[in-house]
Amino acid sequence: MEKAMKVSIDLDKCAGHARCFAASPELFDLDDDGYALNAEIDIPAGREATALEAVAACPERAIENH
Ligand code: F3S
Repeated sequence: MEKAMKVSIDLDKCAGHARCFAASPELFDLDDDGYALNAEIDIPAGREATALEAVAACPERAIENH
């Protein structure tokens, strides 16, 4: 069985571009200023492709998948 995917967000690198949320609003939560709220996110089975889109979409390269 494959290990469940996770992404981590370096909240110090996050500059509030909100593209992660645009790519995948059901996985990412933002504060009122558009900054990512959660440093670790468990990706449910079947949502890996959208999670990877969010990783690629962040201009700050703040999101990594594991
Ligand atoms: Fe922040 Fe990157 Fe998302 S800058 S809000 S983690 S697109």
